[in-house]
Amino acid sequence: MRPTNNVPAGALAALCVASVVGCSGGAGSSADAGSGAGADAGSAAGAVDTAGRSIADLLVSASATLTDIGVLRLDPFADDVHPDPRQAEMIRLGFRISQDPQTYAADFVGNDLTCGNCHLNAGQKDLALPLVGAAATFPQYRRRDDRLVSLEDRIGGCFKRSMNGTAPPHDHEVTMALDAYITWLASGFSVGERPAWLGRNAIAEESHIPIEELDLARGRELYEMQCAPCHGLDGQGIDVVVGKPGPLWGDRSWNDGAGAARVWKLAGYIRWAMPLHAPGSLTDEESQQIAAYVNAHDRPAYPDKASDFPAGGRPMDAVYDTLVFPVHPLKAKLAVLGGG
Ligand code: HEC
Ligand code: HEC
Repeated sequence: MRPTNNVPAGALAALCVASVVGCSGGAGSSADAGSGAGADAGSAAGAVDTAGRSIADLLVSASATLTDIGVLRLDPFADDVHPDPRQAEMIRLGFRISQDPQTYAADFVGNDLTCGNCHLNAGQKDLALPLVGAAATFPQYRRRDDRLVSLEDRIGGCFKRSMNGTAPPHDHEVTMALDAYITWLASGFSVGERPAWLGRNAIAEESHIPIEELDLARGRELYEMQCAPCHGLDGQGIDVVVGKPGPLWGDRSWNDGAGAARVWKLAGYIRWAMPLHAPGSLTDEESQQIAAYVNAHDRPAYPDKASDFPAGGRPMDAVYDTLVFPVHPLKAKLAVLGGG
């Protein structure tokens, strides 16, 4: 399924030339974790936590770009991954699944995304939904479920929503391998500890733009300038040689029950992780306009949305949730623009 209305390859080249910093990357640039978005986000990028760990040691820098897509801080193929070779093999399998679930977890995937498309550098990049240390925070109470969820539950939730598929059983090799990889990313962390870099792909509440006030014409204009060179005018993703983004909307994208289907949540990702030639370069406002444009489009329906948030508190940016918005508040505006 090739996109039909892509921006020509020259546009990407031009964009890279214009952004010298963005495309001059190379593995070296990911070492300077002290610069860029991380610092702006209020993170003490050079700081060391109580256990003596620094973000620079553990995570690929938030300012790393397209050319750093393959860079890893923790390499599952290193010799000393685990003393038990069978356990080491499961850690590697988990890594492979996260990068290519269509091959390694085909039965459970219903779209063209990979875990690594969103959790950049296999969950090892700062301000791009890092998974390093996250295993130490489970089990955790989640409002969406109104109960304690395990890491296995959470992985299953990602399959059902972000991957628009089905949850593999807890004792299935797919769950266990992802569990092994993500738990290995938390080696040395204390159970119950919450690393400072988690949950930072967000827009501060006081900067949230009410959904009704979002301007789709502006969102589209920004999208076409800032995103289309790599994601295509049709949102389906362009092969940029070092990587290929997954579809941002349509039948092969995340479904409408995913976290990314919420406008402010998606904006928090875009704000710090994109555009991949210059992450952190957009404002809170721009990120929200773009997120509104992306989430104005049709995407697969998650059948159990009504069962989410059983104790109330449905998020106000869940534009596809008919219990919050009886009519999708952005779709009609998109139709007026004549976009699709
Ligand atoms: C469409 C983007 C997207 C895809 C694809 C995706 N995720 Fe996520 N994932 C998210 C978002 C958004 C969050 C919520 C992060 C937050 O709340 O700060 C999340 C959270 C998580 C968490 C919890 C992390 C934490 O800090 O508590 C885990 C574990 C996780 N994802 C694993 C996976 C796995 C495994 C896959 C592939 C099977 C996957 N994700 C695919 C977007 C995605
Ligand atoms: C220089 C190329 C480039 C630009 C420009 C860019 N992206 Fe991306 N984006 C990527 C790549 C490549 C990935 C996948 C990364 C990976 O798999 O390691 C990605 C992933 C994503 C994802 C995760 C889900 C998916 O569909 O893959 C989102 C959401 C996203 N980009 C949004 C945006 C938005 C919005 C903009 C504009 C503000 C933007 N990007 C600009 C290259 C780019």
